[in-house]
Amino acid sequence: MQATSDVSQSWTKSTLYQELQKILQGTRQSGTYKAERVITSPQGSKVQVQGTSSSVLNFCLANHPKVLESAKLALDSHGFGMASVRFICGTQDIHKELEKRIAEFHGTEDTIVFPSCFDANAGFFEAILGPEDAVISDELNHASIIDGIRLCKAQRLRYKHLDMEDLAGKLEQSRNARVRLIATDGVFSMDGDIAPMQEICKLADKYDAFVFVDECHSTGFLGKRGTGTAEHWNVSSDRIICINSTLGKALGGATGGFSTGKKIIVDVLRQKARPYLFSNTLAPSVASASITVFQILSSVEGQQLREKLWKNTVHFRTLMGQAGFDVRGGVNGPPIVPVMLGDAALASQMADEMLKESCKNTCSNISGSLDR
Ligand SMILES: Cc1ncc(COP(=O)(O)O)c(C=O)c1O
Repeated sequence: MQATSDVSQSWTKSTLYQELQKILQGTRQSGTYKAERVITSPQGSKVQVQGTSSSVLNFCLANHPKVLESAKLALDSHGFGMASVRFICGTQDIHKELEKRIAEFHGTEDTIVFPSCFDANAGFFEAILGPEDAVISDELNHASIIDGIRLCKAQRLRYKHLDMEDLAGKLEQSRNARVRLIATDGVFSMDGDIAPMQEICKLADKYDAFVFVDECHSTGFLGKRGTGTAEHWNVSSDRIICINSTLGKALGGATGGFSTGKKIIVDVLRQKARPYLFSNTLAPSVASASITVFQILSSVEGQQLREKLWKNTVHFRTLMGQAGFDVRGGVNGPPIVPVMLGDAALASQMADEMLKESCKNTCSNISGSLDR
């Protein structure tokens, strides 16, 4: 007993422990400490949160009945887990079918599924680019793109957010690179703006560069068929060598990500992308349910769901604007709706306040009139 308490005392006195304490204190003092809110109900437009008595309005939707049914059936037909990475024992017929469906949906040559889009982004750049190449990345790209780029040995250049002049300058600057790749988010979640894909592709053509897009915030609902930013701007998907996206947002909301695009890129990713080679495969129930998601997306119901989402978005953007909030993107902006409070600590405080009693009225006012 004595020995155990000695060990724990020396641990709390160690430099590492003290340094970690400082990190936590720093985040608490800056008001950006992230506490998890525990949901006790299925995900949906209203959820039960531990510590609150009434249900809370929530914008993370999942659990479409057809998707749930498909997941349940797959548990019986294909089991719970694969206990393996894809290339050892982790590929079932449904994983192959899902990849085929995703490619059909996007009109691309081939697809590879990853455990998450973070993994897809972490694996992409290192597998595709070498030290002789250059990657030119929007400065506000998602953390997973930034980390993926850090893992590759290519020359790295950042252009100012959506600034085509600066992008042209960086393309000029990297003229000597063997291959130049422009990397951008399709929709930027923190600002709600959409990458100008026509201009980006024009610059890519002019400078003999290639384009990579992360469509996590657009797949399923941007563009007439929901294929994302390129479709939104009437750019052929052929102009983009690879689209990475997630199954964890509009596409069922579980887990999983994918790279879809040129076949040779997918072939190389299967051989070299480390998160694909060294991380477990997607659970069979998720693979099967995701096939159902793509069936829904391409159906009349999918079209109706997209129309409803855009209608709800206009409604929400209008009411929030009228309530005095700074909502980026205007009334007709995309369904990613950043509400700018201008201060991270204040945003966290507001989230806490909204969970308290006072939020009930606001929530019911807005949700009462949303078309669910
Ligand atoms: C733009 C973007 N890329 C990648 C990811 C990672 O996706 P996943 O949750 O599938 O790892 C996210 C998730 O928030 C995202 O917003």
